Amino acid sequence: MTHPGSGSTYDPPVDPAHGARPTAPTPAGARGHGSPPPTDPTDRPVALITGASSGIGAATARRFAAEGWHLLLSGRDRSRLEETAAGASAALLPADLAAPEGARLLAQAALRRTGRIDVLVAGAGIGWAGPFGTMPHTDIDRVLFLDLNATLHLVREVLPAMVAAGRGRVVLVGSVAGCVGVREEAVYSAAKAGLAAFAEALRQELRGTGVGVTLVVPGPVETRFFARRGRPYDRARPRPSSPSSVAGAVWEAVSQGRDDAYVPPWLTLPARVRGLAPGLYRRLLNRFG
Ligand SMILES: NC(=O)c1ccc[n+]([C@@H]2O[C@H](COP(=O)([O-])OP(=O)(O)OC[C@H]3O[C@@H](n4cnc5c(N)ncnc54)[C@H](OP(=O)(O)O)[C@@H]3O)[C@@H](O)[C@H]2O)c1
Repeated sequence: MTHPGSGSTYDPPVDPAHGARPTAPTPAGARGHGSPPPTDPTDRPVALITGASSGIGAATARRFAAEGWHLLLSGRDRSRLEETAAGASAALLPADLAAPEGARLLAQAALRRTGRIDVLVAGAGIGWAGPFGTMPHTDIDRVLFLDLNATLHLVREVLPAMVAAGRGRVVLVGSVAGCVGVREEAVYSAAKAGLAAFAEALRQELRGTGVGVTLVVPGPVETRFFARRGRPYDRARPRPSSPSSVAGAVWEAVSQGRDDAYVPPWLTLPARVRGLAPGLYRRLLNRFG
């Protein structure tokens, strides 16, 4: 489900397969005076997508490519980025966002490449599952750094050019864990809750600038996320969604300028119950798990 939102709206460009060129947003002001010209100028709208080597980010990249966008694809695994880019108008910008300067270097490389970023999809992320009392300190730092800090730094680097251009959209990939708090995913839940609060605050700050913020809130999604964190998804509910359904929700939110997108849509319900009646939510949780 997506919700009507504030900020900019993109008219979905016409599918180039049908002959028409996609519309490019106005690049005015995206570069400062005296900046070198972009190395890859394009009249297509430009999306910088992190986490594009796998799962949700890769599916989102394919969706934007199908809509005629130019893609700046980031992840660490270059060969998987190449797979995502196949057949698309795309440039690969491999980057380790866990490195201290990773976000800044990626943003600089992206803006050098095209001179503007119309949409940032911040999809890179990792999980960790297990009792909090056993979580190594290094893993606490790793999850918080990649899922929260690196994302905020990347937005900080990309935002001024969007604001100068008077349009753009930041898409943050949160999680239902950040809305309700999931047992044995305490740090991951905290990181995603941080993203949700950041989205809300930033959206208010950006009112009137033409730049919007979308928080995508997926439940479980069938990706390598669970294998990578070392614990499979083992709950009966909610049933995992496909990465392409999340990509569809991202596209819909961007093209309609929506603030939130829950996947599947009914996940708004537990988030609302917890927000409105936390006592009831906990009783239901204790009873039904
Ligand atoms: N799967 C779910 O159930 C689920 C549910 C809710 C929210 N999410 C969120 O959705 C986002 C995407 O997850 P996914 O399910 O698509 O998982 P995934 O298939 O494991 O993809 C994770 C992506 O993050 C990138 N990444 C990991 N560490 C990185 C680093 N240090 N620097 C740069 N990129 C890095 C990976 O790139 P490389 O492979 O190239 O390293 C990969 O492209 C995450 O933010 C996750 O928290 C997932």
